[in-house]
Amino acid sequence: MGRKILLDHDNIPGIQSLNVYREKGGYRALEKVLKTMTPEQIVEEVKTSGLRGRGGAGFPTGMKWSFLAKPEGVPRYLVCNADESEPGTFKDRYLMERIPHLLIEGMVASAFALGARTSYIYIRGEYFYIAQILEKALEEAYEAGLLGKNIFNSGFDHDCYVQVGAGAYICGEETALLESLEGKRGNPRIKPPFPAVAGLYGCPTVVNNVETIAAVVPIINMGGAAYAAIGIGRSTGTKLISASGHINKPGVYEIELGLPVEEFIFSDEYCGGIRNGKKMKAVVAGGSSVPVLPTDLILKTAAGEPRLMSYESLADGGFATGTMLGSGGFIVMDEDTSIVKNLWTFSRFYHHESCGQCSPCREGTGWMEKILHNFIVGHAKMKDIDLLWDIQKNIEGKTICPLGDAAAWPVASAIRHFRKEFEEYVNNPGSIRDVKHYYRINNLAEA
Ligand SMILES: Cc1cc2nc3c(=O)[nH]c(=O)nc-3n(C[C@H](O)[C@H](O)[C@H](O)COP(=O)(O)O)c2cc1C
Repeated sequence: MGRKILLDHDNIPGIQSLNVYREKGGYRALEKVLKTMTPEQIVEEVKTSGLRGRGGAGFPTGMKWSFLAKPEGVPRYLVCNADESEPGTFKDRYLMERIPHLLIEGMVASAFALGARTSYIYIRGEYFYIAQILEKALEEAYEAGLLGKNIFNSGFDHDCYVQVGAGAYICGEETALLESLEGKRGNPRIKPPFPAVAGLYGCPTVVNNVETIAAVVPIINMGGAAYAAIGIGRSTGTKLISASGHINKPGVYEIELGLPVEEFIFSDEYCGGIRNGKKMKAVVAGGSSVPVLPTDLILKTAAGEPRLMSYESLADGGFATGTMLGSGGFIVMDEDTSIVKNLWTFSRFYHHESCGQCSPCREGTGWMEKILHNFIVGHAKMKDIDLLWDIQKNIEGKTICPLGDAAAWPVASAIRHFRKEFEEYVNNPGSIRDVKHYYRINNLAEA
């Protein structure tokens, strides 16, 4: 059995409640930091752990924390990014729903390390019922003196608030999130300045993902060095993976980083193989934004090494033959899946969610959606494959925030690895699709 340090108690009845959470050792880490550690020691411990941000970019958390500006007389904020809108990613939902106090304990311990008296959990509007679970857990924590004034008699005061968003993917981008939290339209900010210098209300702010903040609790309990011993190389610790698609056992799994991809997909401990005895065709390993890889490249690197579930191994080969761990949204597609239809679905999402600030993203995502639609309905020409390639190239790296990249990379990788499938749609529009069926199951009016 793989090692579990975040979800080790997720199936215990009543673990949502403070009492049961404390019976299982909950809030020990908070007591330890407040009674025996300085903020600097906690930052060092997190640096030693090698923890990398679980929101997608994998930036080292301890380093991010040490960049936080500390001007005299200016408040600092901790903001938890619980927006989780990336298609294929649902692990933060699972964690907050099952063990809300793990996040709250991580929030207060992290806030102490950062010198933040106030923190916010920004959660997507569609997770309203989870916001209610968190509110209840916060209430329990306040009543028990684990939030509010003079926590554990340490002299440390902390308030934590839940803020519900309105259901926009862009509000997961950290600066758009801060704008939204301030009550404005969620448009990403131009950086620099980074949030560590001018974040919420212009004050120094750390924005971290739910899983990142929760991981601080086991790091404090076991020590940074012990955490760093789990995993492989610079991919330390465990990672929550949201597994979906044509597998026998979809769900949220905690894996030790470094697990072979093949074992994750085919062993009964995890995804249990491809359903209905089908063959696997492709995998999106890190949420809809990362490059899709065909079976041979997701199981083995171009050099023939087994591909591992780690930041480095998944990225091996760059975008020519590799992908990214991203937010850990693992979407498995069987042999019957149309890559072009799947891509059209992703492109519709990015077009809909583009905030419209940057022309390449606002216009380009719309063009990509339209051209992909032409493939689906049999109106595309061979030159449209190159047009699609050009459009994604003109979005990548040319926008204020990485939503543009997120829209471009799936298109580029689909053309790179599955060009023949696009050609087939042009050469033989009727053979590999059933447009009527597609329109029906997607509840769309026929073109
Ligand atoms: C369009 C877009 C959406 C994002 N959505 C999320 C999200 O839902 N949750 C998240 O933690 N990070 C998201 N991110 C990444 C955040 O900007 C940020 O890097 C992250 O919250 C930092 O936390 P970490 O260091 O703990 O990973 C998104 C980025 C982009 C560009």
